Amino acid sequence: MSRLVIVSNRLPVTIQKEKGDLIYYPSAGGLATGLNSLDGSWEKIWIGWPGQEIKEAWEREAVHRDLAKDGLYPVFLTQEQISLYYEGFSNKAIWPHFHYFTQYTTYRDEYWAAYRAVNRAFADAVIPLIREDDLVWVHDYQLMLLPAMIREAFPSLSIGFFLHIPFPSYEVFRILPWRKQILEGVLGADQIGFHTFGYMRHFLSAVYRICGYEHHFGKLTVDNRLVNADVFPMGIDYEKYAHPDPKPQDGNGPLKIRELAEKQKLVISIDRLDYSKGIPQRILAFARFLQDNPQYQGKVTLVMIVVPSRANVSQYQELKEEIDNLVGKINGEYSSFDWAPIHYFYRSLDFPELTTLYQEADIALITPLRDGMNLVAKEYVASKEDSKKGVLILSEMAGASNELMEAIIVNPQDRQDITDALLQALEMEEAEQRRRLQKMQDRIRKNDVRHWAVTFINEQKKLMESQEAKIARHLSKEDKNELARAYRSAKNSLLILDYDGTLMPFKTDPKAVVPDEELLRILEKLGNHNGNKAVIISGRDRDTLQKWLGHLDVDMAAEHGVWIKRNGKWANNTGFSASWKERIRQVLENMVERTPGSFIEEKEYSIAWHYRAIDKALGEKRVREFRDVLLYLTANDDLQVLEGNKVVEVKNAGVSKGKAALNWVGERDWDFILAIGDDNTDEDTFKAMPPGAHTIKVGLDSSAARYNILSVEEVRSFLDSLEPVESEVN
Ligand code: UDP
Ligand code: G6P
Repeated sequence: MSRLVIVSNRLPVTIQKEKGDLIYYPSAGGLATGLNSLDGSWEKIWIGWPGQEIKEAWEREAVHRDLAKDGLYPVFLTQEQISLYYEGFSNKAIWPHFHYFTQYTTYRDEYWAAYRAVNRAFADAVIPLIREDDLVWVHDYQLMLLPAMIREAFPSLSIGFFLHIPFPSYEVFRILPWRKQILEGVLGADQIGFHTFGYMRHFLSAVYRICGYEHHFGKLTVDNRLVNADVFPMGIDYEKYAHPDPKPQDGNGPLKIRELAEKQKLVISIDRLDYSKGIPQRILAFARFLQDNPQYQGKVTLVMIVVPSRANVSQYQELKEEIDNLVGKINGEYSSFDWAPIHYFYRSLDFPELTTLYQEADIALITPLRDGMNLVAKEYVASKEDSKKGVLILSEMAGASNELMEAIIVNPQDRQDITDALLQALEMEEAEQRRRLQKMQDRIRKNDVRHWAVTFINEQKKLMESQEAKIARHLSKEDKNELARAYRSAKNSLLILDYDGTLMPFKTDPKAVVPDEELLRILEKLGNHNGNKAVIISGRDRDTLQKWLGHLDVDMAAEHGVWIKRNGKWANNTGFSASWKERIRQVLENMVERTPGSFIEEKEYSIAWHYRAIDKALGEKRVREFRDVLLYLTANDDLQVLEGNKVVEVKNAGVSKGKAALNWVGERDWDFILAIGDDNTDEDTFKAMPPGAHTIKVGLDSSAARYNILSVEEVRSFLDSLEPVESEVN
């Protein structure tokens, strides 16, 4: 069985030093609580920071030993790293930025340097522990550079990444100076998971705009690896909250929650102290509710648990003060001798306290301004498994709202909305409470944390299999030797080569693809001599091909085969007309005017509109708008409208690279035929080849070709290895 190697900044246990002793506490926060409740069906190890600076070697040894018993491996951070990487880049740059609190984003180069260095330190800790068949699963925003670092050491390892927080819109993400490095780091993973479709969509849009990788239903090819971005909403350990063990407290616990619940309607609010959670806004909304509904004064209590978090980060300290003041103010204003509207606890709860609170609460008021998922909402719903009594009020900004639609959904910034929701919740019939809870419970019972992990892992496995299937078609060293041998022993060989994307890398500026020395040397060597024939088949115009390659002894087909050059002479293949071009040009010029950055390429017998330098979605919108006009204008002529990779081309019907290739294929009885190409138009060439021909597609996309090759460099080095030895002997 392959192992699961979990890597996250925070381990599920956090060390605290108390009077010189090291005490291990369970970590708070959704990542640690969720992942930690995965059962033992996997052999798993977990690598992360134990949450405290441990300086002394002997202490580190002791921690190592204690944690190893549970399969946990600590990464130790110095105080400086904690302040620059954890409090700094992670929690003063990425956290606020990704939660749309850009006013808190701190842009400091030393934070970024520390973030890189600590990601590297994690890589150094992880790499020696890895076995080739492990599945490494990296978690969250503190370690976004790690997947690429591990990938460098293990090119074919199965690596997953999961982001537990929102991924912001491209317009916000792009502001970060380190945006490209962050995306490249994450793209080192094979599979990248998000809680919601929205986050995934934002990520893919950023990847396209910043790194240039396009996706097809979430799948993209990065350095010839398949990468899958997908949605995996994290669940909870349902049973743990539905039937808690140990049982919830009997009322004598420090919160005395049962006593309170007998006298009052209880509204609970439970979060880490974090500005993303909307705590002040929630308190103010509760105050408005009391003001607008005096009949509930003395009858409803808000029990507010605020779990200390990131206490050294200034915004968290300020927030603490703000909350303290607000609670004081509202309690001061509304309290009576036997009632205080808000019971406020600034500490974390143990499991029995937490589950008692969940079970006793009439309403859970969960109103984050932004939240990746929010597991508290799911835990509250699960804890009502037996009673079927309770109402969840949930912010539409929490990832969980996508699955908990039967909650009362509110806009956390809209005080009136929350006020109305509280009234609705307090007055909701029990039958209605039951109906809503039942539906939500059915959903989260099924989609629990185990289901989340299993789905992620299974999808990752499937991805690795399709990656392997693609690699299996990759032209191996043995295949290359075999082809080189066949080529050497052939008396007459035909080589059919596409130009852009096959012999030269694809560039945004089509004029920048002038052949270099190396390419000219290779083509010279493989040119037309001693029974050998090399043909360049391209969509480019005749003049360009002639200017760039005309001096070589190779045949050519320009404009996908409108023009053919054989034995040094160009000829028009079938006598096409070009009189229609003027009409089409006017339409295409209109498209250029409306779409700056796009351009027209005019050839003798075809005309194309390129949008490779502009936003793809805008280009596609224009194509949609103009498609009908083009089809109408070409209807009575023998023309075709071809939609290619960021290009629309109008040309004479019946022209294709496949047809062009047949000019040479039928020329004689070849001993050896090789065709190489990279895009859709080359598929026609592959399909036109006779049995026994060797066909190679550049890139990992599926194709009619027999083999794949990974890059232009690989094509060149393979072609360079071909030696027509017997011809040379002659
Ligand atoms: N939690 C905890 N101790 C507490 C209160 C809450 O461990 O005193 C847990 C809670 O049960 C939940 C997690 O902390 O599993 C909070 O996760 P959530 O996704 O709601 O928010 P996050 O803290 O990850 O932003
Ligand atoms: C969120 C983050 C986690 C983090 C947790 C607690 O859930 O997604 O990565 O562990 O908050 O924050 P902390 O800074 O204490 O680890």
